[in-house]
Amino acid sequence: MMLEPFAPYRSNEFQVKFATSNWERDEAHALRRFVFCREQQIFEDDDRDAIDDHAIPIVALSMLGIAADRLVGTVRIHEAEPGVWWGSRLAVHEDFRKVGALGATLIKLAVSSANAMGCHTFFANVQVQNGLLFRRLHWDVVEEFEIYGKPHLRMKADLAWYPPCATPEAGFVALAKKAA
Ligand SMILES: CC(C)(COP(=O)(O)OP(=O)(O)OC[C@H]1O[C@@H](n2cnc3c(N)ncnc32)[C@H](O)[C@@H]1OP(=O)(O)O)[C@@H](O)C(=O)NCCC(=O)NCCS
Repeated sequence: MMLEPFAPYRSNEFQVKFATSNWERDEAHALRRFVFCREQQIFEDDDRDAIDDHAIPIVALSMLGIAADRLVGTVRIHEAEPGVWWGSRLAVHEDFRKVGALGATLIKLAVSSANAMGCHTFFANVQVQNGLLFRRLHWDVVEEFEIYGKPHLRMKADLAWYPPCATPEAGFVALAKKAA
């Protein structure tokens, strides 16, 4: 009898939500460290900064039925001045990019949850190679500049496309485009 070759399991369903437990917060930092220190080499050992003291972490979880299997994406949001919110440290695990609109769904919850908390302006400093992703999600370029030795775009979300989400602890479900 011929056996099917082993295929690593990948969930087809993801939940994008505010981090509500310590393991989610810890895994989000681990993913950030991997992406921004090891993969992109923007920071040396740790990408955490003072914003983490008051930012809200958002996570994308791969789901096995109703249980979370692993953390596959993250972003954080914070209010810098009344009504003005920022998103930063957007990262999706490399095996899960362009799989289930995880980056787009993290951005959607980031802006929609801020909108529900009184946001009137939402900014992000976006690496130039991701400008098109944000433009397609109804963000406009406000300014071009350089930080961390890399060209960036300061971009602003069009809140009309991001209706308030008042249940961010439940967040949104994202589905893989193709069966794994
Ligand atoms: C940027 C990043 C978060 C995108 O995550 P992702 O889960 O692959 O994005 P999505 O699948 O939600 O992308 C949504 C759509 O945009 C497209 N897209 C993804 N990245 C893109 C990019 N850099 N430029 C243009 N289009 C892009 C996808 O193909 C998809 O298109 P579709 O709707 O036609 O299928 C991910 O590539 C990443 O973590 N990169 C490394 C860290 C990083 O650059 N962080 C952002 C700093 S600003």
